[in-house]
Amino acid sequence: LSPWALCPTSVWLPPVLALCQGGPCTLCPSVTDQPLLSPQQGELNSFLWTIRRNPPAYLFGTIHVPYTRVWDFIPDNSKAAFHASSSVYFELDLTDPYTISGLASCQMLPHGENLQDVLPRELYRRLKRHLDYIKLMLPHWMTPDQRGKGLYADYLFNAIAGNWERKRPVWVMLMVNSLTETDIRSRGVPVLDLYLAQEAERMKKTTGAVERVEEQCHPLNGLNFSQVLFALNQTLLQHESLRAGSLQAPYTTEDLIKHYNCGDLNAVIFNHDTSQVPNFINTTLPPHEQVTAQEIDSYFRQELIYKRNERMGKRVMTLLRENADKSFFFAFGHSQGVSGLLCFVPC
Ligand SMILES: *[C@@H]1O[C@H](CO)[C@@H](O)[C@H](O)[C@H]1NC(C)=O
Ligand SMILES: *[C@@H]1O[C@H](CO)[C@@H](O)[C@H](O)[C@H]1NC(C)=O
Ligand SMILES: *[C@@H]1O[C@H](CO)[C@@H](O)[C@H](O)[C@H]1NC(C)=O
Repeated sequence: LSPWALCPTSVWLPPVLALCQGGPCTLCPSVTDQPLLSPQQGELNSFLWTIRRNPPAYLFGTIHVPYTRVWDFIPDNSKAAFHASSSVYFELDLTDPYTISGLASCQMLPHGENLQDVLPRELYRRLKRHLDYIKLMLPHWMTPDQRGKGLYADYLFNAIAGNWERKRPVWVMLMVNSLTETDIRSRGVPVLDLYLAQEAERMKKTTGAVERVEEQCHPLNGLNFSQVLFALNQTLLQHESLRAGSLQAPYTTEDLIKHYNCGDLNAVIFNHDTSQVPNFINTTLPPHEQVTAQEIDSYFRQELIYKRNERMGKRVMTLLRENADKSFFFAFGHSQGVSGLLCFVPC
């Protein structure tokens, strides 16, 4: 079970590609007219689309990784579009405390329940053992740079996994996926979308969001219990093998960063090996488990990709129609609900 199977955090959603048909605007990939920072980018896509209107609107594909890993590779035309736009919109407003608390409460088990009450005993025991292991390893995984910034292992563990016994199993599963050495080492630097939000605020741009917390959160909570148990079990199995050294890190944030930096849209969005379904639909699973894996995958595809694309696309179009005189920069790239609290450390 790769995190990309269940966590489309870094899959760019192209929401309005189909919506301009017959409408007043045309949507096309921007030609990168500036010299590019890295030579190999020359012919590649910049993840920036221009919606031709006056003033223009832009659609930019972000990625949920530390911005320092990708910033130098973002072409100047994208940065210029960001600077030129008076309104900047995100999926969620991550700088709004309500968003953060909304995400947090949405992840909690109802009625004050505890994971121990909900999970089969053996699964709970394995989960606890795994998290104990993570806690033990965390100080060794952190970089000198992180320590230099005043990040403590205890603080980091609590920021990511604190209160885990009170969380819904599906969120615990996503949390376990984000507790790997590579992911830990990248904490403490804002992810690209958060960085853009901070920059937009700093530059006194109008900022906003096209989604509500519940819209991102509820689909995750909509998996039924047997599906969640299956996903958590598979996740734990995978991380237990990692721990035992019998499995290489199955997912590759590094690959994703590489594809993003190379502007390789196809690899980032459409390549199922690095995005949606890799080890999850594992042919060595017994047939009935393969069916469950397939069901979970299509559920998420439907709920987190297609339905959201349509909803967000409609809101983008409404904003553009109702604010005909404003320039817009839409930065979309991943599902905050899946990763908002998991993938960044509040500083
Ligand atoms: C969960 O959903 C799947 C697919 O819709 C169904 O086959 C299964 O019976 C459900 N399980 C429970 C416990 O509701
Ligand atoms: C976890 O998955 C393994 C292998 O697919 C299976 O044998 C085991 O029964 C599962 N455990 C639980 C608690 O579902
Ligand atoms: C499928 O799962 C088995 C057992 O967990 C593992 O050895 C194998 O590498 C997996 N295959 C893929 C393609 O992920």
